[in-house]
Amino acid sequence: MCGIVGYTGTRPAGPIVLEGLRRLEYRGYDSAGIALFDRDHGLFVARATGKLDRLIQRVEGTLPPAVAGIGHTRWATHGEPSDQNAHPHLDPSGRVAVVHNGIIENYHALRARFLERGAVFLSETDTEVLAFLLAERLERGEDLLDALRGVAGEAQGAYALLAVDAEEPGRIVAARVGNAGGIVIGLGDGEHLLASDLGALIPHTRRVTFLEPGEFADVRADGLAFVDADGRTIEKTVAVQPYDVVAAAKGRFRHFMLKEIHEQPETVQYALHGYSPDPPRVVMDGLPFSDAEIRALTRVVLIGMGTSMHAAMVGRHYIERFARIPAEVDNSAEFRYRGPVLDEHTLVISISQSGETVDTLAGMEEARRAGCPQVTICNTPGAQATRIAHGTVYMRTGPEIAVASTKTMVASMLLLHGIALHLGRVRGTLDPSLARQQIEAALHVPAAVGAALELEPRLAEIADRYSRYEDFLFLGRGLGYPLALEGALKLKEVSYIHAEGYAAGEMKHGPIALIDERMPTVAIAPHDEVFDKMLSNIEQVRARHGSVIAFVSHGERAVDGLANEVVELPAVDPALFPLVGVVPMQLLAYHIAVQRGADVDQPRNLAKTVTVE
Ligand code: G6P
Repeated sequence: MCGIVGYTGTRPAGPIVLEGLRRLEYRGYDSAGIALFDRDHGLFVARATGKLDRLIQRVEGTLPPAVAGIGHTRWATHGEPSDQNAHPHLDPSGRVAVVHNGIIENYHALRARFLERGAVFLSETDTEVLAFLLAERLERGEDLLDALRGVAGEAQGAYALLAVDAEEPGRIVAARVGNAGGIVIGLGDGEHLLASDLGALIPHTRRVTFLEPGEFADVRADGLAFVDADGRTIEKTVAVQPYDVVAAAKGRFRHFMLKEIHEQPETVQYALHGYSPDPPRVVMDGLPFSDAEIRALTRVVLIGMGTSMHAAMVGRHYIERFARIPAEVDNSAEFRYRGPVLDEHTLVISISQSGETVDTLAGMEEARRAGCPQVTICNTPGAQATRIAHGTVYMRTGPEIAVASTKTMVASMLLLHGIALHLGRVRGTLDPSLARQQIEAALHVPAAVGAALELEPRLAEIADRYSRYEDFLFLGRGLGYPLALEGALKLKEVSYIHAEGYAAGEMKHGPIALIDERMPTVAIAPHDEVFDKMLSNIEQVRARHGSVIAFVSHGERAVDGLANEVVELPAVDPALFPLVGVVPMQLLAYHIAVQRGADVDQPRNLAKTVTVE
């Protein structure tokens, strides 16, 4: 979490750093700060609690035109959001400024050394002590980069850090320690930029290089050098990154979330580019395994967090149904600490929009140690996940800016469908006629997703009626179960309504006790083999005076007069139902949140990329 930016060059750094922070605000937005420094202007520091706009208001008209600077947008881990806890943090003499993303695990012990000497810390953060440690080393005559390496050796944890020394104007040093928090460095014309991710650099340059864990950068306007933890020089390759900047603007939409929901027909269209019906074949770019390796697989483990884990749950159905390989899903954070039984025939598929979610990266490291073949489904070019896995299947949805994921879930589910069809064909477990039917059905999904978007006025009307409730239950079975979880998650995230997602079969084992006229139930009830069971569940809710909003298949009449609201979904193959069924879940959550006046794109307490445990 947290976004960090740095600039050194010949242009005024202030506006560039603030614009970079704007692009990283999705990573955290409870406070922000900036430090500008050069030979002519000394060190200027400003911080403000709240979103970036507060900082911009505060510094308006006062920003010195210094040509180097660093900035930070925060998601609080240690210490509440406040001006004092906002970054950059300084040492007591005001010589060193640092911005940091991640956690310093031993900061209490590090602080104690200074407290014994009577030092005063101005913040409650784990970061401030890093400035103290750096200044201490600089006072001893160490070079700034050596001092940073020394501090990284002392400060345990996984983090990314930028530091500047007011006595060396225009020089920024950067460290990446462990797997949390990336740093990408952009090479411009007589200038260099640093940021937590690519999106912040793209307006200025596409020539970039990524700092790996254990690497350090020494950045000046006219110079760039990299070293490892022992100070040995490293040669890094510079790649030119394609990226759609236009996609990072809201356009005609009121919120990024709504824009991204509406981009889903194109998202699925793109994810289908490897599907061809005649002969039936799915070519998955990024799957690096030979046919022999695929045949040797005995198990598939899918890992992810949040929405990505819900996509993984749909993927498990596809892998088992089409490739007939035993498959399981794990929350990455549970997987990594469970001591999972893994071997070189267990394919680990990780799903992560950002490719930087700390628990998913740790789960992938666990799989790497066990020698598992690994593929990651990711949306961010060059992200750490793409460097751990043997292969990357890119979502290619363009940037997803809203904190609550939408289009990347749809892309992930479809790519998992494609992977499953590919594995099934190679292993000979997928009947060619089923392969053809699934490929043809998948080619219909973009139109069906487009038709689902046309339900928006109806969902806005339902949102209007239900936005004042404080508790919701979402029920689904089979492929509807991950959707129930996702529908509840979306509602929680963007509208702050308490919502529970349950497998409908579980309803009678607890949730039913909650049902009364104050708790509406969203029933995901497509006409599949368990439809009759869902129908019974709906009856049971109604018998307890609960309202029901039912999402049913096209033409379904069985719930008319039973559910309070019936929403017919566009026709789609049952296996592909989640791709279409998720759209109304997203729209319902969105419109309820708008009705309640919530901050849809940047919900409180959340961050798009969770780089701390
Ligand atoms: C955060 C976001 C979610 C996202 C999850 C996993 O919690 O708010 O929208 O699903 O992280 O992120 P990833 O980048 O790994 O897909």
